[in-house]
Amino acid sequence: MQRIFSGIQPTGIPTLGNYLGAVRNWVKLQDDHDCIYCVVDLHAITVTHDPKTLAQATREMAAALIASGIDPVGSILFHQSAVHAHLRLSWIFECVVRIGWLNRMTQFKDKAGKDRENVSAALYTYPALMAADILAYHATRVPVGDDQRQHLELANDVAQKFNFDFCGGDSFFPVIEPLILGPAARVMSLRDGTKKMSKSDPSDQSRINLTDDADTIAQKIRRAKTDPEPLPSDPAGLEGRPEARNLVGIYAALTDTDHATVLRDYGGRGFGDYKKALADLLVDKLTPIATEMRRLLDDTATIDAILRDGAARAETIAEPIVRQAEQLVGFLRV
Ligand code: TYM
Repeated sequence: MQRIFSGIQPTGIPTLGNYLGAVRNWVKLQDDHDCIYCVVDLHAITVTHDPKTLAQATREMAAALIASGIDPVGSILFHQSAVHAHLRLSWIFECVVRIGWLNRMTQFKDKAGKDRENVSAALYTYPALMAADILAYHATRVPVGDDQRQHLELANDVAQKFNFDFCGGDSFFPVIEPLILGPAARVMSLRDGTKKMSKSDPSDQSRINLTDDADTIAQKIRRAKTDPEPLPSDPAGLEGRPEARNLVGIYAALTDTDHATVLRDYGGRGFGDYKKALADLLVDKLTPIATEMRRLLDDTATIDAILRDGAARAETIAEPIVRQAEQLVGFLRV
């Protein structure tokens, strides 16, 4: 069985984007892969964060993942700061990655914005830690949303350079295959179809949170930006209509179909009708997750025990791999 690794930052309530672009696929992949899923709290502190809420946000993210269908027994679920192997390998990778490669990362440019001189050094080296997360387990498949594609390409470049520099070209670190799946690999903001839906967007109206109640979901979808035309009858008609494409992609992902199938049913209809159907579908799919998440959060001791057990199992896999990487780099062992 191929090994899967993926991660999510505990920087807010997970959004519909996280769910459709990543978590839903993580759940499906559990059937035929050896899966490791991580709440990446080390990544979360690369931007200003509140130390008083980080631990609870980490638990909440774990609860959201379990409520969405991640099986903490069949898969491994843990939080990143509990397994130090990530940091040891990340340091080695910071020495392998080239500044020129990091300079090309569009996500850094987006996050740093105009304030480039004033962001943390770790926000810049973030992709080295991400490569370490995956490669510390020799994972070969990484299910993510489309926004992580460039980071995974960089992880492959880092692995290849490590293999070349320290293993005479042997493939100590494997090639990673990004799994960017389904019609909602990039869910867009409900207020602007050209911007990604994000947990950290200042406007709550821009996203559906997994914990939104039925009324909030219906209201956000009703107010979602659209254009005045009815829906087209085939996917080609979505060209140049980012908001329409987004709302159709969400419906397609939630029903396990594609744009063409949704448009066969709704082509020619106005957004009024369509939004009502979409809101009902979202409520149907998301409400049980929110209910289960609340139930799990009533018992934080159980969530902590799941994460502790996950970390111990993760460590068993990562420790010998990272130790071998350290040996290849040539550290003295006494
Ligand atoms: P994060 O926390 O931003 O997002 C978690 C996952 O959700 C996906 N995603 C989306 N997919 C579709 N549409 C959207 N609007 C949307 N927003 C987010 C992301 O692509 C991601 O798959 N750097 C990563 C976390 C990470 C990681 C890793 C991932 C750390 N180490 C190792 C894979 C492997 C991140 O910030 O995800």
